[in-house]
Amino acid sequence: MPHSQIFVGLILAASIAGCASSQSDPRALSGLSGAEAFQQLCVSCHGPQGKGDGPVAPTLKVPVPDLTGLTRRNGGAFPTEVVRSTIDGRSNPPAHGPREMPVWGWRLVDGFNVDEAGERSRVDSVIARLVSHVQSIQEP
Ligand code: HEC
Repeated sequence: MPHSQIFVGLILAASIAGCASSQSDPRALSGLSGAEAFQQLCVSCHGPQGKGDGPVAPTLKVPVPDLTGLTRRNGGAFPTEVVRSTIDGRSNPPAHGPREMPVWGWRLVDGFNVDEAGERSRVDSVIARLVSHVQSIQEP
């Protein structure tokens, strides 16, 4: 894909994200810890402890998974790459209809940042912190 197309995509995604949420400045998340970003972006569906019992969960068509059981369900190993790509969302287009979870890899992008590579690494680092937080809440 040519760079200009990616860039237009970024701007589009950023303006859609801007309309859909009150979080108007995606850069504001850069300074947050994984736990803080989780509280802002994820608890509405996944619940404060990640148990899948957030206030929005009952309104969704699919059940919201309990994020504290990922390691247990994966035979004792935390599935880092699955978690990362699920949160990011850009690399796994839905096979069975639209996904209910927002594609954070697009939502978190600041479309006004012309430094594409810098923006990419900034978003990756927010996502990496979220993955670490999800790993830290695993239960036996
Ligand atoms: C609008 C509700 C909603 C929000 C907000 C949300 N999720 Fe999800 N999440 C879901 C649903 C529903 C699924 C089940 C798969 C699907 O339909 O997309 C899911 C799946 C997941 C999975 C995969 C779990 C598994 O069993 O494989 C992870 C990891 C995850 N979410 C993490 C997060 C993180 C981290 C955030 C915040 C950055 C977040 N989610 C925000 C609804 C949400």
